Amino acid sequence: MQAQLNKILEEAKAKLSEVETLAQTEEIRVKVLGKKGQLTEILRGMGKLSPEERKTTGQMANKVRAEIEGLLESKFAEVKAAAKAAQFKLEKIDVTEPGAPVNIGVKHPLTITMEEIYNVFMSMGFSIVEGPEVETVENNFDALNAGPNHPARAMTDTFYITDDTLLRTQTSCVQVRTLKKQAPPIKVISPGRCFRCDTPDATHSPMFHQIEGLVVDEGITMADLKGTLDSFAKQLFGPETRTKFRPHHFPFTEPSAEMDVSCFKCGGKGCRVCKGSGWIEILGCGMVHPNVLKVGGIDTEKYTGFALGMGVERVAMLKYGVEDIRLFYENDMRFINQFK
Ligand code: DAH
Repeated sequence: MQAQLNKILEEAKAKLSEVETLAQTEEIRVKVLGKKGQLTEILRGMGKLSPEERKTTGQMANKVRAEIEGLLESKFAEVKAAAKAAQFKLEKIDVTEPGAPVNIGVKHPLTITMEEIYNVFMSMGFSIVEGPEVETVENNFDALNAGPNHPARAMTDTFYITDDTLLRTQTSCVQVRTLKKQAPPIKVISPGRCFRCDTPDATHSPMFHQIEGLVVDEGITMADLKGTLDSFAKQLFGPETRTKFRPHHFPFTEPSAEMDVSCFKCGGKGCRVCKGSGWIEILGCGMVHPNVLKVGGIDTEKYTGFALGMGVERVAMLKYGVEDIRLFYENDMRFINQFK
C-alpha cells in the first residue's frame, strides 16, 4: 500500500508538471482526491489493515495528501495567473491608436438656407417667432383679409382637418398670432412648414417651407420695406445684387409687391437660371393691410407696417442650382452630402 501511495504521489507530480490549464489541473485533482479518487480509495481500504499497518500507512497517506494538495494549490494559482495574463494580452487596448471615424452628419440644404436667411434678418434686429402647422381657418384666411370666397380656400387647394382647422397654407398666419400677442414695435421673422394640395413635380411639393417677416411701428413706410429687403438681398446673394419691386396683389397687404433680384448667376445679362430675363423673383411683400392690423387691436392711425414672405425651397434651388424640389425630401445622402 505504501508503494501504491508513492506511485500516486510520483504520478501526480509528473502530471502536474506538464499541465497548463485550469481544466487539466482540476482533472488531476478529481482523479487523485475526488470521491472516487486514487487516494480516497486507499484511505477507504485502510479498514482492512492491522492497527499497526493502519497507523504507518495512515500517516504516510496524510503526508502524501498534504503534499499533493500543496502541489495542486500552487498549480491552480499558476494556471489562473497564466490564463489572466493571456486574457490581458488578448484584450489589450492600444489607447494611442486612432479611433474609428465618427460619421458626422451634414446640415440639410434647406437648414443651411434658412440659417443664412435668419442670420441676415437677425443682424438687422429681427427676432424669430414660430406658429403651429395646424392652424385655424380664421388665422390662415379670414384674419388675413381672405374672405369666404377667396379661391385659395378651396378644398382642392388646402388640406382641411375640420371645418375650422387646416394645415396652414402659408406662414402669414403667424403675423396674426404675433399681432394679437405683441404690441408694437414688432420686428419678427417666422420660419416653418406649409402645406398645399399640390401634385409633386419639379417645382411643386404639398409640403414646403416659408419664411415670413413682419415689422410694425410708428412711421413705417414703403421706404423701410424697400431698404430692408434690398439690404437683405445684397447680404444673401452678394453686394452687387440689384432689386426691383413689381406691383402685385395679396389680400393682407396694400400696396403689395413682388421683389425680383438681379440674376446672381449672370449678373443680369440673361441666362438659363433667370430664363433670359436677368431677374429672379424672390418674395412677396407689401404694407400690412389695416384690416390685418385691426385684428390685433392695433391703432391703424398710429402704426403702420410691412410684411414679406418667401419660399425657402425656391431660394435654395436658385442659390445652389437644384433643379428638382423633390430632391430636398428624398434624404438621399449623395444629394445632401454635396452641401458639406
Ligand atoms: N403668404 C404669401 C404666399 O404664400 C407670401 C407673402 C406675400 C407673404 C406677401 C407676405 C407678404 O407676408 O407680404 O404666397
